[in-house]
Amino acid sequence: MCGIVGILGNEAVAGPLVEALRRLEYRGYDSAGIATVENGSLDRRRAEGKLVKLENCLSEAPLVGHTGIGHTRWATHGAPNEINAHPHVSGDVSVVHNGIIENFRELREDLEKSGMEFSTQTDTEVIAHLIARTLKGGATPEEAVEQSLSKLEGAFALAIIFAGHDDLMIAARKGSPLAIGYGDGEMYVGSDAIALAPFTDTITYLDDGDWAVLKRDGAVIRDRAGRQVERAKVKSVASALMVDKGNHRHFMAKEIHEQPEVLSHTLAHYLDFSEGRVDRSRFDLDLGAIERITISACGTAYYAGLVGKYWLERWARIPVEIDIASEMRYREAPMEKGGMALFVSQSGETADTLATLRYCKEEGQHIASIVNVRESSIARESASVLPTLAGPEIGVASTKAFTCQLAVIACLAIAIGRARGHISEETENELVMALAKVPGHISTILRDESIFEKISHDLSHARDVLYLGRGVSYPIALEGALKLKEISYIHAEGYAAGELKHGPIALIDEDVPIIVVAPDDDLFEKTLSNIQEVVARGGRVTVLTDHDPDRIGADAENIISLPTVHPFATPLVYAVPVQLLAYHTAVFMGTDVDQPRNLAKSVTVE
Ligand code: AGP
Repeated sequence: MCGIVGILGNEAVAGPLVEALRRLEYRGYDSAGIATVENGSLDRRRAEGKLVKLENCLSEAPLVGHTGIGHTRWATHGAPNEINAHPHVSGDVSVVHNGIIENFRELREDLEKSGMEFSTQTDTEVIAHLIARTLKGGATPEEAVEQSLSKLEGAFALAIIFAGHDDLMIAARKGSPLAIGYGDGEMYVGSDAIALAPFTDTITYLDDGDWAVLKRDGAVIRDRAGRQVERAKVKSVASALMVDKGNHRHFMAKEIHEQPEVLSHTLAHYLDFSEGRVDRSRFDLDLGAIERITISACGTAYYAGLVGKYWLERWARIPVEIDIASEMRYREAPMEKGGMALFVSQSGETADTLATLRYCKEEGQHIASIVNVRESSIARESASVLPTLAGPEIGVASTKAFTCQLAVIACLAIAIGRARGHISEETENELVMALAKVPGHISTILRDESIFEKISHDLSHARDVLYLGRGVSYPIALEGALKLKEISYIHAEGYAAGELKHGPIALIDEDVPIIVVAPDDDLFEKTLSNIQEVVARGGRVTVLTDHDPDRIGADAENIISLPTVHPFATPLVYAVPVQLLAYHTAVFMGTDVDQPRNLAKSVTVE
């Protein structure tokens, strides 16, 4: 999703702006640009494609201004080309924007009637023209921005600079995230603290509806009603975080390999290994009082929630409803008071998830969230926050965040089950010990990837791939298919194995590889029957299992033997082989593994 930076500096800011934009690359983008105030005038450079193209433009024609804004654009309105790239300029105003202006058509018509000429297809250009028109009418920059913001509907994070004003930047947010950074006689604006980490660790997160006037000596923040407000300055840990690939070729590979470590951290946060118990104090929830749970999330985080539904119903005996956030936010579902609504999000900024959270809050639910970014909007708007300790996830395809989400939900299921009297002390001990072994199992799988490389080579020639699983393995099949399609661009679908014969079995022939997630649990025999049905129709099956391979025998083309895992913990372990299959297939295909086409890491628009 679009990334924003702004610097009021004491020397040329073009280089630092590009450095900050590089730290936002993980969000996904298709063009980039910067603008600075130079000798009182605005000047900008923009380029389609990756940041290196913008850097080439800048080395041919440098920008030397000390005040500037920068942007990585993930196209929503208009093609991803140089013309539509931000910053946009109108008269004395230059603006960068993340979000979607929903009433841009009406605003554009009105602006065109008053003689403003549009040169792009973007919704953002209306913001630049609105402010410029108000300035021409005699308003100060602050007045012009305030009046213009009141006309905008939709979501935005903005950074705005003005010709003739070297010591001024205005930032605003509604819906999309935005942070202000405090330096020594310098000020910064960024979509997140990671972007600002090279410059400062002192950050203020703007609240929804806030706008701020920045000068080099500080910021004055106003809320949506125009009242001056104080917002807390926090010390961000982002500066301490390593954002490099280590010895790996891609961030995704690094993040897959970090899983044993980050899962150990996450599990250790919620579990007391020596006692074999869940540390209930970590949940900040009245565990025994929860009567029903509604889970909502998007993409991979939704699949983590879907595993959670199986776990919470089976082990905690608590009713769970789950829906993808983009549907749930508009479904107007009636919700009985006294329920808990649980949101799962790596970034904590996903627009649909945040909107659903607000809906559930209005419906009187207790809001809890599982987030990886503790300072995110979703975390800040939740009554109870259950952090994942995955560290920053840079690859667009979620890997370690997913398994850490699963770890937290597994611990929550045990804690609720215990509090409701459905899990005995002995069972709690057994399940905790099962989770404790997960990092070791994953290390074993990661020791030798040759089998995954071999099968991925075959997958890289496929046009379609099917993933099958039952019970808790069904969401892992869905996740395997999502992982493959998002980074290799091969069409893939996940199905509940028992649903196959109700339609999807028609797809099966020798050209469609089928990956079956089949741990040795109480549904294994059922899954085996489905494998036989597929093989009988010429299907080429790869089975992921810890069952005796002889039992599967010649039915499968490939058997990937995995460590023996307690059935409760299988989703955490089986997530890794499907990640490896997707990763190696994408490497064979030569795609942009970390920043796949059309995708964004943090989806802050609907
Ligand atoms: C996963 O690989 C995805 N790129 C995507 O589905 C992601 O999980 C989804 O957009 C939700 O993001 P969040 O966890 O930051 O809310």
